Amino acid sequence: MKTQVCIIGGGPSGLLLSQLLHLQGIDNVVLERQSRDYVLGRIRAGVLEHGFAELMREARCGERMDREGEIHEGFFIAHDGRMDRVDLHRYSGGSSVVVYGQTELTRDLYEARDRMQGTVVHDVQDVQLHDIAGTSPSVSYRKGDERVRVECDFVIGADGFHGVSRKSIPAGVLSEYEKVYPFGWLGVLSRTKPVSPELIYARHERGFALCSLRSQVLSRYYIQVPLSDKVEDWSDADFWAELRRRVPSDVAARLVTGASIEKSIAPLRSFVAEPMRYGSLFLAGDAAHIVPPTGARGLNSAASDIHYLYHAMLSHYRDGDDSGLDGYSAKALARVWKAQRFSWWMTTMLHTFPDSLAYDRKLQDTDLAYLFSSEAAMRSLAENYVGLPF
Ligand code: PHB
Repeated sequence: MKTQVCIIGGGPSGLLLSQLLHLQGIDNVVLERQSRDYVLGRIRAGVLEHGFAELMREARCGERMDREGEIHEGFFIAHDGRMDRVDLHRYSGGSSVVVYGQTELTRDLYEARDRMQGTVVHDVQDVQLHDIAGTSPSVSYRKGDERVRVECDFVIGADGFHGVSRKSIPAGVLSEYEKVYPFGWLGVLSRTKPVSPELIYARHERGFALCSLRSQVLSRYYIQVPLSDKVEDWSDADFWAELRRRVPSDVAARLVTGASIEKSIAPLRSFVAEPMRYGSLFLAGDAAHIVPPTGARGLNSAASDIHYLYHAMLSHYRDGDDSGLDGYSAKALARVWKAQRFSWWMTTMLHTFPDSLAYDRKLQDTDLAYLFSSEAAMRSLAENYVGLPF
C-alpha cells in the first residue's frame, strides 16, 4: 500500500489529523491496534479548549459538539468550606471552553472518516516502523495472517504513551523528562444530574476532589486516592461518602448519587520527550507528552500538536515549504511545556501530598488567597485554562 501520510493511532489526534488532511486532498491511512468498540469504550477527558473546538469545526466534525456540548464560561474552586468562582469569560477576554466527552468526539471523528471513506485499519498487530531516519519511510503490520507494508512520505506517531512510535526512535536521540505524583484519581461516571452546572475543583485535607460532567444527565466525579488503592477497594457507597466529605456541605447535601457506569483509577504523571520529530517520524499527543488531568490539558495539548502538524503538512504539500515541518518540534514543545507548567501548578495547589511540610501547606493556602485577590493571577489562570494561542 502507498500513501502520503501514515498515521499510527486511531484516537482523537490521529483521526482529527486524518480528517483534516483528507479534506485538503492529502492521502493518508490510520492504523489502530484496538477495535473501534474498544476505542469508543474508553472514558477520558471532557473539556475542550476554544481552539480545539474550532479545529473540530474546520474538520467538519463540529455539528454534534455544537449541538450537544455545553459552553462553560467559568468553574469553581472549593476550599476551606467555601466556593470561589473563576470567571473564565471575563478574565480570558471573552473566551470559554466546551464540555463534550472525548468518547463522543472520537465517535464523531470515526463517523466523519466513514462518510469520506477514509482508510482506518483496526486490529493491526506487530506494527513496525522502517527507515524513519530517511525520506522514504514505511510502516508494516500484521492483520490476521497477512503482513502489510505501507510506504509513505511521513509517519505520524499518535499512538499514545505506550505506543510503538516513540520507542522506534534510536536510543540516545530523545531526552525524556518525567514526574510521577504519589497519588491517583479514582473516577466514577454515573447517570445522575450533575451537582453543579459548572465544574468544581475541590481542595480538602482528605484529598482533592472534582465534580465534572458530560451532560446534564451524566456526571463525572473524581477523588484523589493513594497509589496503593485498587478499584475493587471502593464500593459506590464508599466513593459517594468520601466525595461528600471533600466538598462544601451545601454541595454535599445537593449531590445526587447513583450506580457507577464506569469506575477506574488513573495515576497522575507528567512526561515530555524531546524532540518530537525524528527524520520522517512526527510524534503527537500522549506519544510525546503526558500531563496530570488537573488542568484538563491532555487532550487539548494533543489537539495543538495536530494543529501545528496539519499546517506544516499543508505548507509542504501545497507550497513546497518545509519550514513548518522543520519548526514543528520546537513550536509544539513550547506550548506543551506551558501546559506542563499549568497542570503542575493546578495539581500542586489543589492536592494533598503525603509528605508535605506545614510550610508547603501554607504556600498552597497562599496560592489560593493570591489567586482570588489578584486580577493578574486570575487572568493567568483563565488564559491557560481556555487555551493559550496556537
Ligand atoms: C473530566 O470531566 O473528566 C475532567 C474535567 C476537568 C479536568 C479533568 C477531567 O481537569
